[in-house]
Amino acid sequence: MIYTEKLPTAEQFFELFETTGWNAKYELNKDEYYIALKNSWYCISIIDNEQLVGFGRIICDGVVHALILDVIIHPERQGEGVGKDVMDKLIAKCKKHKIRDIQLFSAADKAGFYEKLGFKNRANNSPGMEIEKYW
Ligand SMILES: CC(C)(COP(=O)(O)OP(=O)(O)OC[C@H]1O[C@@H](n2cnc3c(N)ncnc32)[C@H](O)[C@@H]1OP(=O)(O)O)[C@@H](O)C(=O)NCCC(=O)NCCS
Repeated sequence: MIYTEKLPTAEQFFELFETTGWNAKYELNKDEYYIALKNSWYCISIIDNEQLVGFGRIICDGVVHALILDVIIHPERQGEGVGKDVMDKLIAKCKKHKIRDIQLFSAADKAGFYEKLGFKNRANNSPGMEIEKYW
């Protein structure tokens, strides 16, 4: 397996992204999503036999806040430790830059994966909040 900071192609990423079902909410095409990848602070891709089997990215201000997004392991390669490898690389990048606060939103039933890496829920009286598709 090759770990690389080089972006995958839009096609490679979209194929992996489509395994999650998340695009039902975003309704983005592959070129729109690729702009998001290109504007990221840091991306890590895992390639095996020329197939993108894992991915993760960070958007960040470079000093204080980082948000981890799109941690995706191909369904056929889950449970092999690849997701942990992706997260280790994303966290190492933040540590290298001494980012003070690393945040993420857990997908359904994935909180345990992040808890093993040291992430904690925010307190009930200070939850993460969001607005979806307000336009
Ligand atoms: C969540 C995901 C990234 C985990 O990747 P993975 O490669 O399957 O996980 P790993 O094999 O690296 O697991 C690392 C550890 O986390 C645990 N773990 C993995 N998924 C878990 C889950 N859903 N709940 C609790 N623990 C979990 C593993 O048992 C393993 O524990 P261990 O170190 O004690 O053996 C992967 O399942 C995935 O891509 N899912 C679809 C997309 C998604 O939901 N991504 C998360 C977005 S927030």
